Amino acid sequence: MRVYIITLSDKGYTNEREDVSGKVICEMVTEKGYTIVNYIILPDERDLIANTLKEICDKNEADLILTTGGTGLSKRDVTPQATKDVVEYEVPGIAEAMRYNSLQITKRAMLSRSIAGVRNTTLIINLPGSPKAVKENLEFIIDELSHGIDILKGSASECARK
Ligand code: MTE
Repeated sequence: MRVYIITLSDKGYTNEREDVSGKVICEMVTEKGYTIVNYIILPDERDLIANTLKEICDKNEADLILTTGGTGLSKRDVTPQATKDVVEYEVPGIAEAMRYNSLQITKRAMLSRSIAGVRNTTLIINLPGSPKAVKENLEFIIDELSHGIDILKGSASECARK
C-alpha cells in the first residue's frame, strides 16, 4: 500500500509549530508495512489542498492519502471542504467509525468534520490535527483499509467473513 501523508497547518507550514501529527502517521503506517511515498505540510488553503489532492489521485501516485488537521470549526479549517471538492464519492462509514470510537474517548470528537472519499483509485481520509487524535482515529481504522483498497483497485472481489 502506497501512502501519501499531508499535514494541513498554517503554523506547521511556516515552521512555527513542529508537525508531530504527521510523524505519528508516518510511524503507524510504517509499522503496518505500508510504503510512504511522500509526506508534505501545506497551509490551510482550500484551493491548494484540493489541487494537491486532485493531482496525487489523477496521477495515481498513492493508494491512500491521509491528511491531518483542519477538520475543526475555525474559519481556517478547510480540509473537509477541499476533500469534498475533489472526491467522486464519499465513504461515510470510515468517518462514522472514527467518530464512533473517538466519542467513547472524548465528547470533543463531535467537533471534527473529517470525511473520507474516493477519487480515481485513491482513498482519501481526513484525520483531526492533534497527535493524540491522529493516533486514536487511525488505530481504529487502519487494519480495515487494505481490504477497502483491494476492492477499490479490483484485486478483491469477495469479502471473507469478518
Ligand atoms: N478525536 C479523538 N479521538 N481524540 C481527540 O482528542 N480531538 C477533537 C476532535 N477529534 C480529538 C478527536 C477536537 S478537540 C477537535 S477541535 C476536532 O477533533 C478537530 O480537530 P482539528 O481542527 O485539529 O482537525
